[in-house]
Amino acid sequence: MSTVYFGTIVHSLSQTELEIVEAAVGVDSEGTIVFVEHNTAADEAAKKHGWAEGEYSVVAPVDQATSFFFPGFVDTHIHASQYPNVGLFGKTTLLDWLNTYTFPLESSFKDPAVAKSIYSRVIARTLGHGTSTAAYYATVHVEGTSILADLALEAGQRAFIGRCCMDANSPDYYCDESLEAAQDATRAVIAHVRKIDPAFETVSPILTPRFAISCSRELMAWLGQVAAEEHLPVQTHISENKLEIETTLKLHPYADSYAGVYDTFGLLTNRTILAHAVHLSDDERDLVAKRGCGVAHCPASNSALTSGETRVKWLLDAGVKVGLGTDVSGGFTPSILHTARQALLVSRHLAMKGEETHKLSIDEVLYLSTLGGAEVCGLDSKVGNFVVGKKWDAQLVALDNKNSPVDIFDWERGKHEDLVAKWLFNGDDRNLTKFWINGRLVAGTEF
Ligand code: GUN
Ligand code: ZN
Repeated sequence: MSTVYFGTIVHSLSQTELEIVEAAVGVDSEGTIVFVEHNTAADEAAKKHGWAEGEYSVVAPVDQATSFFFPGFVDTHIHASQYPNVGLFGKTTLLDWLNTYTFPLESSFKDPAVAKSIYSRVIARTLGHGTSTAAYYATVHVEGTSILADLALEAGQRAFIGRCCMDANSPDYYCDESLEAAQDATRAVIAHVRKIDPAFETVSPILTPRFAISCSRELMAWLGQVAAEEHLPVQTHISENKLEIETTLKLHPYADSYAGVYDTFGLLTNRTILAHAVHLSDDERDLVAKRGCGVAHCPASNSALTSGETRVKWLLDAGVKVGLGTDVSGGFTPSILHTARQALLVSRHLAMKGEETHKLSIDEVLYLSTLGGAEVCGLDSKVGNFVVGKKWDAQLVALDNKNSPVDIFDWERGKHEDLVAKWLFNGDDRNLTKFWINGRLVAGTEF
């Protein structure tokens, strides 16, 4: 059945343009947007496009003045396996945090029952926060990682599924046993994802060298080759922490930079997602831009692990694609809305240090959370905003419902610009009343 969604839509047209307009959005039975009519009643818009009465339904929020449709969030970097550890980082920084908190937890995913129970919770939680697309890291385990793909497919969430590759400098209890073992396991997960979603309708494999420290040169070279031959996306970490950078350069003395290590092995492509990018040099930034890679900006994680402050505007200005990543559980929240808030505040911290040009606006962080993320994931022709031909991945945000953490005062009614700001700073999953991915209702109830 086709549907006309009628109400205020809030979405990014570009990095700096957030459009807020009343619209009737026509979505066909496949979940594709077929028309967007501004300031037009639902039935009138349907008629204009030849939709006969009775052949479509109309979905409109009860309280038009304090509700709006917003695109599903894109989380460009999240470790699904680390969800039980959110908020746990103590006094550690990246490398000791990995050894103390992260590797022991990830190794428990050897047991498929653990994988199933935790991954189900992660998917339910991220859907509850409006994440329609997630680039997931799983663990080294084939069965557990395949379970993550099954669960995402079943729940209807768009997901990139990455089996962590780590055959070097990792603890004995949590490591690929050999290059061949890493290759076989990677192949097995790719085959599984291709089997369950052959057209990559919602779930796709992604090559996942954990980071340069934990991968042999041979493994990185093989992954680069597979990425090129099979046109597969890649995700990894880059330049997150100073000790990590130092260690990387010691392990790879032939390279002139961290980005240079990945480039040597063909891992910098226009389908590569680089998480963090906190301490890139000018040359590295230019290389990343030239190769067409995207950056997953993870401000909650960078603050929690005291990794540093990514200069997002400096990346965007050089033409680097940027989206947001929760980086659970370096990051303490599975919410992209909360992450967008953190991105805005971190940019203000940079501005307070005298670097005014780094300040991000509300419109810009909302762009990063949706269209920017879609660009990073190579999905911007499919999702990210409400444009004809794209899929209906949409949150219905209601600010004045019973459980809303946002207090709405009468003077604000109808001023959607203010409502959006209030939602960004005070809103949370209680404001998500309905959520569609590919036109399918995945959270909330039918009207
Ligand atoms: N670098 C290598 N592995 C990880 C990880 O799990 N989290 C973060 N934040 N950085 C990493
Ligand atoms: Zn990470």
